[in-house]
Amino acid sequence: MRFSFAHTVASTALLIAVCNAAVAKPAVLRHASILERAEQVEGTYDYVIVGAGTAGLTLADRLTEDGQYTVLVIEYCHLSKFPFFTVIQRSDGRNFNDPGTRYNITSIPQPEMNNRRQAVWIGCCVGGSSAINGMVMVRGTKEEYDGWAELGGPDSTWNWDGILPYFKKASHFTPPNEELAEAFNITWDPNAWGQDENTRIYASFPTYQNPTMIPMYQALSKLPGVEIPLDGAGGNSGLFWNPTSMDPVNFWRSYARTGHYDNITRSNYEVITEHKVLKVLFDGTTATGVQFAPRNNLQNALTVKANKEVIIAAGTVHTPQILQASGIGPQSLLGQADIPVVVDLPGVGQNFQDHAYLSVGFRWGSGSPPAPPVSGNGDPSTLSGPNLGAWIGLPVISDDHEAIAARYEAQDPAEYLPEGTDPTVVAGYADFQKLHAKLLRSKNVNLLWLPLMGAPGGIIMSMHVVSHGTINIDPGNPQAEPIVDYRALTNPIDLDIMAENINFMRKYMASPDFAQYSPTETSPGADVTGEALKDWIRRTIIPTNFHPIATAAKKPREKGGVVDENLLVHGTERLRVVDGSIMPLLPGANTQQPVYMLAEKAVDIIKAAQ
Ligand SMILES: Cc1cc2nc3c(=O)[nH]c(=O)nc-3n(C[C@H](O)[C@H](O)[C@H](O)COP(=O)(O)OP(=O)(O)OC[C@H]3O[C@@H](n4cnc5c(N)ncnc54)[C@H](O)[C@@H]3O)c2cc1C
Ligand SMILES: *[C@@H]1O[C@H](CO)[C@@H](O)[C@H](O)[C@H]1NC(C)=O
Ligand SMILES: *[C@@H]1O[C@H](CO)[C@@H](O)[C@H](O)[C@H]1NC(C)=O
Ligand SMILES: *[C@@H]1O[C@H](CO)[C@@H](O)[C@H](O)[C@H]1NC(C)=O
Repeated sequence: MRFSFAHTVASTALLIAVCNAAVAKPAVLRHASILERAEQVEGTYDYVIVGAGTAGLTLADRLTEDGQYTVLVIEYCHLSKFPFFTVIQRSDGRNFNDPGTRYNITSIPQPEMNNRRQAVWIGCCVGGSSAINGMVMVRGTKEEYDGWAELGGPDSTWNWDGILPYFKKASHFTPPNEELAEAFNITWDPNAWGQDENTRIYASFPTYQNPTMIPMYQALSKLPGVEIPLDGAGGNSGLFWNPTSMDPVNFWRSYARTGHYDNITRSNYEVITEHKVLKVLFDGTTATGVQFAPRNNLQNALTVKANKEVIIAAGTVHTPQILQASGIGPQSLLGQADIPVVVDLPGVGQNFQDHAYLSVGFRWGSGSPPAPPVSGNGDPSTLSGPNLGAWIGLPVISDDHEAIAARYEAQDPAEYLPEGTDPTVVAGYADFQKLHAKLLRSKNVNLLWLPLMGAPGGIIMSMHVVSHGTINIDPGNPQAEPIVDYRALTNPIDLDIMAENINFMRKYMASPDFAQYSPTETSPGADVTGEALKDWIRRTIIPTNFHPIATAAKKPREKGGVVDENLLVHGTERLRVVDGSIMPLLPGANTQQPVYMLAEKAVDIIKAAQ
């Protein structure tokens, strides 16, 4: 109950500070209905942040740290309470797909996936998606972030050198214990990690690893072209160990709530839960505040003003909805929905990307590779996600990489985008295509992620997807859940790449180290190749690893971008977007560390603007 108590204290302090009232009952304040609040307080904050998720709480914590500014965070979902928050923090897996802590959104049917639909999992509680994620802590490579800068224009500071300090600031790293490190060859790059005392998002290791990973590690390390860097934190591809977002002392989930919300008692930091932001309010094109309403009573709308800025941190799925509902988006879509246009910004909700995966089944035909005994291997219950993986580029995966890159480069950029895509969005895709052809030819790009878990076969993750989807409002009901369209496999290059990734898994399973155990492919089966393999991919691919990005991409306006290099929404004043939606290009990494990083960088940008 300590956690809720801390929240109560913060709310109480703010109300006292603002309205100079007597102390009210904590029970009332914790769930203060906004109507009561609106009557009591002036309704103005320096910053109004939409969404108490991964980015939103990072911003709120950092912007209130020095006591200069007041911040209100408005969150649609709830603050999970005992015992449920324990389930989240123990990270025992249930929370991954628990209707109590996620949205219930499903994509529209995907024609290239045999019309299957995909569940769109994103977190719904204070902490957002960081509360339900798989806790893998990886960054992606130097080339990928240099690509973020390249798509941003010549003055961009979002290249590797410009973001590394924020990666270091965003999490506090603790190395694995010595016995574990030695037994499993775990190394790390001390220059790439930070240990800031003011950072409570932790990156650490469990005390246990499964010894069956040792023969897998050794077989993979012998494949031609596979590098073994210290780890990936310095922006490298290869076979390496990665930490987990986990408290190094109690081995519980470390997430935006524990890192940037719990135990913070500041009179200038308030979070209101179970209220939905309906739209941003403008004076001309200057954001002045937001309209919001109780989640269960959207008719009962209220407003709150922002003295300095409105910052949208509602995540990749809902940020475009809020922008479009506010009159910022493709003019024709806004017209269909009868929403008055504030800024015609065709890129809002376009450029949507996510990682895609499937599983290839193998079993050992006779015996299994020996798992060496590991002395001092700790407690298996401290494990929570894969800590070992191969993250590799197309030239290592496939001899066909040049042909695939050339084929992709030769496409007409509009060919596989939705019909009627705005010319600025097509121009942005043309840049993406040029950049991507370069990435397909580079060894230092995490095109494939093969998490190693100590068993034959397993998950194959395509980390760079060239089919771009859309997330738009439903014009008939803009406040209903948005329409998510992955447009999975609409660009045939994604099929080619997934087929190469599967072939790489086959090559790895055919390692001489494994020969005596007769590995057998059970699904789809070794004889499934060519067009039949592509059909199997269509039937089984999952077009998300729950890493949606780019629906408010940081790119120039004439390139279909939504925010500029300072994350200000094009064509507006005092309105920023800071969350996963601003990433213009997928990093070859799970996206939480990149989100924490970009929020930390945004804090410096926002403070510098004062
Ligand atoms: C199941 C799952 C597994 C994952 N596994 C990993 C992993 O292992 N490693 C990794 O690095 N990443 C992982 N990720 C991805 C990572 O967690 C996300 O990329 C990241 O947390 C997104 O942060 P965000 O701030 O953009 O959005 P979120 O953290 O989702 O925050 C958005 C917040 O805005 C709120 N909101 C939305 N609309 C409104 C509105 N209208 N009004 C008020 N509030 C609103 C939402 O309720 C939410 O709290 C996973 C994600 C999921 C869902
Ligand atoms: C999702 O559905 C469950 C019921 O199955 C419900 O409790 C939960 O509130 C829903 N979540 C959202 C965000 O609507
Ligand atoms: C550790 O790495 C060395 C050098 O690459 C290798 O010889 C050894 O087998 C590895 N040990 C394990 C446990 O993988
Ligand atoms: C909050 O503070 C208490 C008391 O110091 C501590 O036990 C708890 O772990 C803290 N919680 C977090 C998330 O830091």
